[in-house]
Amino acid sequence: MTRRKAKIIGTGSYLPEKVLTNQDLEKIVDTSDEWIVTRTGMKERRIAKDDEFTSHMGAKAALEALANANMTPDQIDFILVATLTPDYAFPSTACLIQSSIGAKKAAGADVQAACTGFLYLLSMAKSFVESGLYKNVLIIAAEKLSAITNYKDRSTCILFGDGAAACVISSEGKGLVVENIQLGADGDQADLIIMPAGGSRKPATLESVASCEHYIKMAGNEVFKHAVRRMEAACKDCLEGAGLTEKEISWLIPHQANMRIIDAIAKRFEHLPQERIFKTVQKYGNTSASSVGIALDELLRRGPLQPGEKILLTAFGAGLTWGAGILGAE
Ligand code: ACO
Repeated sequence: MTRRKAKIIGTGSYLPEKVLTNQDLEKIVDTSDEWIVTRTGMKERRIAKDDEFTSHMGAKAALEALANANMTPDQIDFILVATLTPDYAFPSTACLIQSSIGAKKAAGADVQAACTGFLYLLSMAKSFVESGLYKNVLIIAAEKLSAITNYKDRSTCILFGDGAAACVISSEGKGLVVENIQLGADGDQADLIIMPAGGSRKPATLESVASCEHYIKMAGNEVFKHAVRRMEAACKDCLEGAGLTEKEISWLIPHQANMRIIDAIAKRFEHLPQERIFKTVQKYGNTSASSVGIALDELLRRGPLQPGEKILLTAFGAGLTWGAGILGAE
């Protein structure tokens, strides 16, 4: 019996229209275009409207992915959503999207793995599809990070943007085979990137709001070092697990957290030329769970890959969490 393969048969993404430039940020906090470009490589990011939420962005990306897969929402068996900015603590954003796109037969749940969310979803969808438990899985990564960003904190507000990405994963149809996924986590470092209040440990109070504890807090410098080390190791483990070498990789899509982090990872790959490292960080900033999915969708929109070409994905985020994955064109 031939083993079922999990394949990405359609992708989509959505970026809000409103652009927040470095020049705009200069008017809000004590910063400069020069500092932001030198330290992060970012020039602008997208910001959702006040009445545009994570589920709205996720639904738009999902409908595009379904259209690209030539599928209708009622063919989906399971919806997985990765987000750290759900519309509500509950019900899940997956259920809100299920309703808005009319995926009546689908079950749905949210997964919280911060910026590594897209890779965590890929791994789950791969096992759902390969095991035969579900046939068609819709994965969606969506973030409205502007809702939890403190625009008085210059060390974080320059980094984040909003956006969504989606993929249909199925055992049938032509697509990108999800060949191998390597995931990791280190909860000992949970304090490095955290939203301290709003959960059951510290429910919202007047004090928690006054002390800005409902925003992202990050020890940027420490996170930077972990990010480079963890993504490099995840990529190398993933390649080894798949029996591949870096020479066989056509594209590297890293989490778009900071151009310097991307460059530091790139330096650790001798055989991967700069032009093969896909970057969107300059125009969208860090969109957390969505970032790798948005970049993947943009890369595929340039034209189909040749059979046998491989894409290496890697991400890192709060938790800490990290991962890498290999996609292979059929
Ligand atoms: N404009 C001007 N100066 C600034 C700004 C700013 N926007 N932000 C910080 N500074 C100042 C600091 O106050 C500091 O000044 P000081 O030396 O007088 O104290 C100086 O610049 C250097 O600050 P650092 O924090 O050391 O700057 P660094 O080079 O580390 O860059 C950054 C900061 C961009 C945040 C970087 O550390 C980074 O990208 N970290 C990783 C982020 C990441 O990967 N996150 C992924 C996960 S996110 C998630 O899961 C939601």
